[in-house]
Amino acid sequence: MELLKQRIREVGTVLSNEVIKLDAILNHAVDPALTTAMGREFTRLFREDNVTKILTIESSGIPIAFAAAQDLNVPMVFARRKKSLNSDTSETYSERVPSFTKGYVTDIMVSREFLTAEDRILVIDDFIANGDAARGLIRIIRRSGAHLVGVGIAVEKSFQAGGRTIRESGVRVESLAKITSLAPGRIEFE
Ligand code: G4P
Ligand code: NA
Ligand code: NA
Repeated sequence: MELLKQRIREVGTVLSNEVIKLDAILNHAVDPALTTAMGREFTRLFREDNVTKILTIESSGIPIAFAAAQDLNVPMVFARRKKSLNSDTSETYSERVPSFTKGYVTDIMVSREFLTAEDRILVIDDFIANGDAARGLIRIIRRSGAHLVGVGIAVEKSFQAGGRTIRESGVRVESLAKITSLAPGRIEFE
């Protein structure tokens, strides 16, 4: 998606060879026009797939997931993060998700009432790095009996293994911008 790449070049700050700061459009501020355009692009990619619901994870996935849900005219659900797992697992699906960039483990959960075996789920998130968050969401979908249509990501860092390994497991992963390498002052796209 050309507009997204252009905005990444404009506002992105490379923090290391692995991490790019995109607070101005994804992780702290929201650009409504860009977010709406990303939602439209996810709709274009998945419009034939009879999506019934979009699943994302708090917090930065929420605006783009909302934009896609609005465009596809389906509900959107966001998994919640818990510092520790003491929610009632008879009422929720919970999964433990490690974060390599942040160096700790969180538990993510979705209430069972929001995922049913009749659902056809599109997962949306802002970044994919190692893919742990996406894999956690996929495990929750599998446990609910819902059908996973695919995964839509705004920014894939394709030098990290998340997108590739999830595709290799047979899941359709679509990314709006793929970053192949990062270096100070330099962002390379596929
Ligand atoms: P993974 O899920 O793909 O394995 O990613 P990882 O654990 O490494 O990432 C943890 C958090 O950092 C996620 O946000 C992810 O979106 C974000 N992240 C990963 N790489 C980058 C990057 O290069 N730049 C930025 N800006 N973020 C990155 P989160 O914990 O879900 O937080 P939130 O932003 O959704 O609240
Ligand atoms: Na995220
Ligand atoms: Na994030």
